[in-house]
Amino acid sequence: MNFLQIGVGGFGGTWLKTISKSQHRLAALVDVKPESLAKASAEYNVPAERCFSDLAQALAAVQIDAAVVVTPPAFHRAPVEALLERGIPVISEKPMAETMADCRAMVAAHRRTGVEYTVSQNYRWAPAPMTARRLIGEGKLGTIGQMRFDFWLGAAFKGTFRETMDQPLIVDMAIHHCDLIRYVTGLDAVSASASSWNVPWSAFQKDSSACCVYAMSNGARVVYDGSWSAHGNHTNWSGDWLIEGTLGALRHSHGKLWLNETPPQVWAKAPFEWKEIANDTPPLLSQDYVLDDFARAIAERRPTATTCTDNLNSVGMVFAALESLAKDGARVAIQPG
Ligand SMILES: NC(=O)c1ccc[n+]([C@@H]2O[C@H](COP(=O)([O-])OP(=O)(O)OC[C@H]3O[C@@H](n4cnc5c(N)ncnc54)[C@H](O)[C@@H]3O)[C@@H](O)[C@H]2O)c1
Repeated sequence: MNFLQIGVGGFGGTWLKTISKSQHRLAALVDVKPESLAKASAEYNVPAERCFSDLAQALAAVQIDAAVVVTPPAFHRAPVEALLERGIPVISEKPMAETMADCRAMVAAHRRTGVEYTVSQNYRWAPAPMTARRLIGEGKLGTIGQMRFDFWLGAAFKGTFRETMDQPLIVDMAIHHCDLIRYVTGLDAVSASASSWNVPWSAFQKDSSACCVYAMSNGARVVYDGSWSAHGNHTNWSGDWLIEGTLGALRHSHGKLWLNETPPQVWAKAPFEWKEIANDTPPLLSQDYVLDDFARAIAERRPTATTCTDNLNSVGMVFAALESLAKDGARVAIQPG
């Protein structure tokens, strides 16, 4: 497929690399920053006449089969809608947009046009989450009753949109974690309540720490505790989790999994019987998986794994948390996608 990539800044580099090493082709690039465009053009051999500062010019000049949108979240909606209206299937970066109203409008454009629009949720496509989903799908935990999800990193993104945006942790980071919670447990969230704050040493203007409680469709609760300004302890980007069910419990830390197949016992004494589980070894990971699933879905006329209608359920967790913050932590219902 001939791909157009819109946004070739920081994370744009990952997509340039992913497409250029695949069986597909980087046919054209769009970015509003001439220096980013010139750098990408030189590094990935896309001739200057196929590099544009404007999407409409690119669409008028170059024949493309699909597009990848890697602009900041506030600039996802306009290109995604323009592409879908032209019948061009799209992979867009997370989060879908910066407001739930924009997300719903983008999904409406997908439904109206019938053209595939997938949201890249690359954190799913890693060995530990894929193995955890398999184990839970096989019934190893029985009925899930509760989950803790801790995400702690000390991060700074100088000069990028995250430095000044509202709720950078929840909107730009926790979207990965909300999607992981749904993917790993197989459960959707039905409500959220949230609290957020900014520590004095934060590298962000707005709140970079938050705690959200999600009620899941089976009655289980997920406690999400995240900070981009942590300095006492760090998890990896996918967080540390503990998932407990009627038959056992599963732990994740730094890409490793441990299973405890002892059913819950009252006054059980530590140490608990944790057994490390060897991760599955899927042939494709991260963006490679997203790209492959997208191309196959187009050919097979089926939705991708993280098609926008499914993704509404993940991004709905993000925006329900924001609505709860605006209501001083009140519990907010999540409308199904
Ligand atoms: N999946 C992941 O693991 C992951 C990691 C990092 C970033 N991201 C996502 O990727 C997206 C981009 O993030 P980033 O870190 O690359 O941001 P960035 O600011 O580094 O780069 C964005 C690029 O988009 C360009 N741009 C801005 N507005 C534009 C417009 N209207 N038209 C064309 N180009 C425009 C900018 O000039 C810049 O080159 C975000 O949605 C972010 O959440 C995903």
